[in-house]
Amino acid sequence: MSDWIRVCATDELLPGETAVAWDGDTPILVFNYDGDYYALEDRCSHEDFELSAGSFDADEATIECTLHGARFDVRDGRALCAPAYAPVPKFPVKVEDGAVWTRDDR
Ligand code: FES
Repeated sequence: MSDWIRVCATDELLPGETAVAWDGDTPILVFNYDGDYYALEDRCSHEDFELSAGSFDADEATIECTLHGARFDVRDGRALCAPAYAPVPKFPVKVEDGAVWTRDDR
């Protein structure tokens, strides 16, 4: 299990915004949904496309993959519509020293 990765300062990730960080080979997409932080692997479970290229709906807490339109709940990574059925892995997030941190805890 790896150490925590610093994503960015908290004031660089405001409600409705996203940021990408890497933990080794794992791209992690971090969301600020209404003041709460969530992190998912930045990889669509349909065809391994980066979710960060898609659009984050900060009202619905969803991310839509730009390649074929699958949507995921950013709070737990579950797939909400075809063509994706498998969830996207979810990672822990913490706020410490004025920054947002995450890690691949698999
Ligand atoms: S790769 Fe994301 S919906 Fe197909």
